[in-house]
Amino acid sequence: MAVVIAVANQKGGVGKSTTAVNLSAALGKRGKRVLCIDSDAQGNLTSGFGIKKKSLEFSVYDALLGRKTLSDTIVKTDFENVSVVPSTSDLAGADIELIELENRQSRLKMQILTLKSEYDYIFIDCPPSLSLLTVNALCASDSVIIPLQCEFHALEGLSQLVESIKLVKRRFNPNIDIEGILFTMYDGRLQLTHQVVDEVKKHFPSKTFETIIPRNVRLSEAPSHGLPCVYYDKGSKGAQSYEALADEILSHSKKKAVSIN
Ligand SMILES: Nc1ncnc2c1ncn2[C@@H]1O[C@H](COP(=O)(O)OP(=O)(O)OP(=O)(O)O)[C@@H](O)[C@H]1O
Ligand SMILES: [Mg+2]
Repeated sequence: MAVVIAVANQKGGVGKSTTAVNLSAALGKRGKRVLCIDSDAQGNLTSGFGIKKKSLEFSVYDALLGRKTLSDTIVKTDFENVSVVPSTSDLAGADIELIELENRQSRLKMQILTLKSEYDYIFIDCPPSLSLLTVNALCASDSVIIPLQCEFHALEGLSQLVESIKLVKRRFNPNIDIEGILFTMYDGRLQLTHQVVDEVKKHFPSKTFETIIPRNVRLSEAPSHGLPCVYYDKGSKGAQSYEALADEILSHSKKKAVSIN
């Protein structure tokens, strides 16, 4: 059964989509069957995998509104073992449209349940807001990866996000956990970077990933070629850091399996 992981932070431009694309591609290379769901109207995850939005028949929007099953919307990518549920700008209206529907917070969860046996990992790339789309992702997930850019306001947004995760845990999804806080766009030359890392580790001692993603220009170039960086430039620091993150995620799954047995 797939482990479902949301990649969430209501702050924009912190590396959510970059993380979802590269982590999925790296796990796919390790033989894991991965489904990546784009739950953001910007569609950066969709284009990051080289999928042309104009060519799409259906998207995550159709599945959320119940017009299609999630499985009808899946597109195979050119990358080993990775499939995508794409998104288009249609999704921009979904937050309002969902309000009127039954089970508005658990529509994605119900769809994902039908597919869980076909994958090892399902990632959901969230939009930069604490909207109903993000709530749907949190309700559907076993855990959350929180990418965090090491900057001054990072902590403010983080406590709000953690409160939202706790709320979803109390009301809808008692099993949800934080998989880890991921430091992104790390620049060790900046004093502020170290302060933010120390502060976050103090507040969340066992919840930060060991792997840290450096600021790396190859990571920002890769999407314009429609390639995950782990394919675009395997030797780059950015690609190697996401390969290390994939190994760390695999080690988490092993630990959990041991603690359950
Ligand atoms: N480690 C990195 N080093 C350099 N550039 C990066 C890195 N991670 C992401 N970027 C670039 O920063 C920008 C924002 O990244 P990304 O789109 O992954 O963030 P996001 O959190 O998904 O944004 P949004 O909130 O808009 O969905 C992109 O142009 C991306 O290519
Ligand atoms: Mg994004």
